[in-house]
Amino acid sequence: MSRISPNQFLLSSSLIGLVAVLTGGAQGVGQSLVEQLHSAGAKIIFGDVDDKLSTNLVSALNQNDTEETKRVHFVHCDTSNYTDQLRLFQTAYKLYSRIDIVIANAGIAIHRDPFAPTLDSEESILIAPNTAEIDVNLKGPLYTTRLGLHYLRKNDPSRTNGYKGDIVLVSSIAGFKECEGLTTYTASKHGVIGLMRGLALQGEKEGIRINTICPWMTKTRLVTGIEQGWYNLGLPANEPEDVARAILICATANRSKSQRHEGAVLPFSGKIVWVGGGKSYEIEDRIRALEPEWLGRENSEVLKKGQEYLHSGKTSWDASS
Ligand SMILES: NC(=O)c1ccc[n+]([C@@H]2O[C@H](COP(=O)([O-])OP(=O)(O)OC[C@H]3O[C@@H](n4cnc5c(N)ncnc54)[C@H](O)[C@@H]3O)[C@@H](O)[C@H]2O)c1
Repeated sequence: MSRISPNQFLLSSSLIGLVAVLTGGAQGVGQSLVEQLHSAGAKIIFGDVDDKLSTNLVSALNQNDTEETKRVHFVHCDTSNYTDQLRLFQTAYKLYSRIDIVIANAGIAIHRDPFAPTLDSEESILIAPNTAEIDVNLKGPLYTTRLGLHYLRKNDPSRTNGYKGDIVLVSSIAGFKECEGLTTYTASKHGVIGLMRGLALQGEKEGIRINTICPWMTKTRLVTGIEQGWYNLGLPANEPEDVARAILICATANRSKSQRHEGAVLPFSGKIVWVGGGKSYEIEDRIRALEPEWLGRENSEVLKKGQEYLHSGKTSWDASS
């Protein structure tokens, strides 16, 4: 685990003029993300299902701008709908002819767990459980990532030394820990880490950095049910701004040759940033480094051989090719 302290230059100057597409920008972490990107001089196109909050945010941030100079745009978008997401990305590309940063932030939590013994009855078992968390939290980022890769691939590598841009996925503490009472949410957020692990190596070959953040308790409407008890115990909490900053740490970590977020090991790619009590910590490097311990040295060594074969570029999962 290594603590990452943000470098202010990277969080401000390196974002000037960049085009960021993100989901779930109307409130909570996403709203702070839109605000921080705006104050850093980036151009932002965000999608959300909440039209009212979104248009209010756009009006507030664009209030001193003209039609030509405004830098914040909203597209109505339900992330579980591919056509909506396609429209979000097409709008961004049409406006600015490039996309530099893609952030899959939108997420929901359904606080009535269909796996709970109290909700199990002869009547309830006749109805399929609600899988909206899978649709929004996993299918959504899957769509965002596919579209994001497509548009980032268009960036001219010679302009930026082979580096085409960043994708940041928002998972959760539920992405790697047990989370009783949030079964479907936990499965969806584990899936987000799987999405990154499936794509990060390919992305790296193409100059696209894919990283994931895992926030712990963050003061948004998602945690209303547990909030008071949490504070009674004196447990640490994130402000939405802390999580938004962690996302921007990921999106800017590779953007300068001379500047670095303290503690960030480059290339910053395939990393997991845990955000707790307002601070950011990279944890994936240690999970990898400790593999011989938790998997056993012999298993780890033979696994390495298998991984090298699978990633050699000399084989394919597609048996027909
Ligand atoms: N709050 C926490 O403690 C916490 C902890 C870990 C992870 N997260 C994750 O952080 C991300 C942001 O959550 P938040 O806490 O800011 O919640 P929030 O509810 O305040 O904000 C979520 C935003 O996503 C939007 N949204 C919801 N469904 C959508 C859909 N189908 N399509 C497009 N937009 C949609 C909402 O309108 C809202 O603007 C989520 O992925 C969440 O799972 C939050």
